[in-house]
Amino acid sequence: MQTTAFYQQAIEDYLKGYKLEKEPASLYDPIHYILSLGGKRLRPVLTLLTADIFGGNYQKAMDAALSIEVFHNFSLVHDDIMDDAPLRRGQATVHEKWDLNTGILSGDAMLIMAYQLFENYTPETFQALAKLFSKTALEVCEGQQYDMDFATRDNVTLAEYLKMIEYKTAVLVGAAMKMGAIVAGAPEKDQDHIYKFGLNLGIAFQIQDDYLDAFGDPKTFGKQVGGDIIENKKTYLYLKTLEFSDEDEKLELKHLFEISPKNPSEKIEAVKQLFELSGAAKMTQKEIQNYTTKAFECLENLSISEDKKQLLKTFGNQLMTRKV
Ligand code: IPE
Ligand code: IPE
Ligand code: MG
Ligand code: MG
Ligand code: MG
Repeated sequence: MQTTAFYQQAIEDYLKGYKLEKEPASLYDPIHYILSLGGKRLRPVLTLLTADIFGGNYQKAMDAALSIEVFHNFSLVHDDIMDDAPLRRGQATVHEKWDLNTGILSGDAMLIMAYQLFENYTPETFQALAKLFSKTALEVCEGQQYDMDFATRDNVTLAEYLKMIEYKTAVLVGAAMKMGAIVAGAPEKDQDHIYKFGLNLGIAFQIQDDYLDAFGDPKTFGKQVGGDIIENKKTYLYLKTLEFSDEDEKLELKHLFEISPKNPSEKIEAVKQLFELSGAAKMTQKEIQNYTTKAFECLENLSISEDKKQLLKTFGNQLMTRKV
């Protein structure tokens, strides 16, 4: 087993060999652009790490890891269109740098490329990977649609929100790990436990993404701070604020989530104040901790050494303190 930095570097190196200087450049340049902007490479690192944990060779999981990262980047290109986001990883989003149609088609091509990366596996592994991938990708679409639908609904429940983030984000983290386990030939029970670990970690990860969207540092966050507030996203912060505010504050928050001012900075500040005043900001951090602990509990049933479990816990704890 290796360090996170080692797996990250392995992915960067492998990406360099992934040839994207193709024609038409107007299709492939944006793909090269988004994949070169970096990012944490969280999901492919988890694929490689999991393959090693189950006694496989991380190199054999390289194509599966890259597939997950290409899919993730595809989802970001389309997500940024849907969220009208100007910034990604500190740079212009694809639809801003090029245009909407470019974002749509380059994204579509990436989804196909993600599938293509399974071609080098044996038929049995190919089938297992493709099956998991299709299920996961459809769930991501479902989660993304709920996310959009919730922005115009004012009666979203916490249970609905949790299901939405499970689908749009957590299933991909679970699948990234399960793919590593599949390539390593791990027993099915272990594949399921590691999937659950990734799923809970992914839920914690998205709640934290929502937290950082409001409270992250604009200098380092890499995305537009307050973007979710501008788009009226019904996040954990929003739902907890509604639950724990008095009537006046509830009305104020609901009102703020019905207006779209040209200059949104006042709206963002007012909403953030309500998030803090109600205690929702603190509760959100607690919930990130809860889901991380829940993830750790899934490790108990795994037939791997304590050392390896510890490594996964260190990884989970590091994620909780991230700033980007
Ligand atoms: C962003 O994912 C989208 C979410 C699911 C929250 P990441 O935070 O992993 O983005 P990068 O790849 O590191 O930029
Ligand atoms: C992202 O959710 C989920 C997917 C991309 C599928 P967000 O919309 O919160 O992600 P960011 O904050 O733009 O990275
Ligand atoms: Mg977004
Ligand atoms: Mg989104
Ligand atoms: Mg977000």
